[in-house]
Amino acid sequence: MIALASSPGLFIVLACLLGLFVVLWCFTRRPTTHVAVEPEDLSANLADTFIIKPYVQLGNYPRQGSTEQLELLWHAKSAHSWAVQARVYGESSWRAPVAVTAQTLTIAALGETERCLVTLHRLPAGVEVEYRVLCDGAIAFASRVRTRNGRNQPYRFAVAGDLGAPVEGHEQRIAHQIHLRSPHLLVVPGDIVYDRGRVSEYMRNFFPVYNSDDASPANGAPILRSTLVVGVAGNHDVAMPKAMVPRNFTRFPDLLGYYLFFSQPLNGPGIAGGANTPRCEGDPEAIKVFTDAAGMRYPVMASFSFQWGNAFWLVLDSNAYMDWTDATIRNWVDAQLASASDATWRFVTFHHPSFSSDGKHSNEQRMRLLAPIFEKYGVDVVFAGHMHCYERSHPLRFTPDKLETELDTEECPVTGALSIDTEYDGAHFCKPKGIIYLTSGAAGAKFHRDSDPGKAGLKPFTVLYDQKVHSFTICDVDGKRLAFTQITEDGTQIDRFVIEK
Ligand SMILES: [Fe+2]
Repeated sequence: MIALASSPGLFIVLACLLGLFVVLWCFTRRPTTHVAVEPEDLSANLADTFIIKPYVQLGNYPRQGSTEQLELLWHAKSAHSWAVQARVYGESSWRAPVAVTAQTLTIAALGETERCLVTLHRLPAGVEVEYRVLCDGAIAFASRVRTRNGRNQPYRFAVAGDLGAPVEGHEQRIAHQIHLRSPHLLVVPGDIVYDRGRVSEYMRNFFPVYNSDDASPANGAPILRSTLVVGVAGNHDVAMPKAMVPRNFTRFPDLLGYYLFFSQPLNGPGIAGGANTPRCEGDPEAIKVFTDAAGMRYPVMASFSFQWGNAFWLVLDSNAYMDWTDATIRNWVDAQLASASDATWRFVTFHHPSFSSDGKHSNEQRMRLLAPIFEKYGVDVVFAGHMHCYERSHPLRFTPDKLETELDTEECPVTGALSIDTEYDGAHFCKPKGIIYLTSGAAGAKFHRDSDPGKAGLKPFTVLYDQKVHSFTICDVDGKRLAFTQITEDGTQIDRFVIEK
């Protein structure tokens, strides 16, 4: 080698080859300019692509994990190539597009529709996430949403029941006020749309108001696209009284919209065709169209549980076909609450209040049958609707005289022994001895003149009853402290109380 390298001719050749190699290497390694090609934003022009614009749901994810996820759903008029991009708000780059599952469905009152679903995975808890929906490569829709809170995060939730009714703009003003307070979670304790829970009523009374493009007292707010909303099945959603033809698909082929539009945990006890479920009647073809579209959600999704922050939530179907003396579903409630031993707070929500002074519905007491199970596991607050009012009870304990009930009738008195904690006042004495029962059913539907019991008609367990103004509930959760406020449609606070552990 030394001899070869010492030859001047060969040295020159080697030097030339080395030079050529260096030039080629530099050429191939020269910096390239990466131009990020942003998809075209056609969101303003593609608005009519959607039958129902994108909205977020918890999906079948009852338990918190090491990361969070959420479902994004929409209905489109025709088939497209869809994808969704997301990033935690403040991050500079979008995550890789996520494919969308599109299913062509026939839904009564909508006709043929593309139901589109995407699950955004691996998200941090309690953060704001930006997302954009790409339709054939262009941005068709964009929004932000907050993920479920983690166990150690303070958070805010709202409760607003009996809302989807076109009554003098109350629903729109309530939606706007809820939006102004930015809850992380909104729970609707039943009667989501009036009058029969039909798809056509969702299209008229729910989506335009709670997924409105703008936030205003006149139109509502873009809540469904930006906030996880949990829906509870009320009597107007799934079980009208017999006189009004319950779940008859011959007369109303677009019933039970609740099972088509909500996507919630499927850890409930409901079995298709079994007891304790809303049964479909009438036209078999219309029923098949419904059950095909609802999939696994019907009938399981009427009762379920989920975790949120440091709380455990139990959602129950309180409608008149439910037999709460049945050991199968009582044991399910017991096991659910037993599984929540590490939660700081235990909340239960259903539509028909157990305890109410309301003059119209106060004999519908079948949910009192569950009070001993709630007390056994230290449930803190029970949220209901149904009565179009705001009502707060003293902390109380109740033991039914008998474990018996009547089915398929609204009236169902349950007598028993009541013990009331009158020392708790929510301001100076904040540790209740018993469960506080809260009715927040004044979020939009009309008030019934025969409901207001007046001051003289209040039962001993009632602290406050208000049917003068439409309102909703806000709760700020911070560790072992809950701060509740009741807010009216014009933003006025009409109640405030604190619960501490
Ligand atoms: Fe109701």
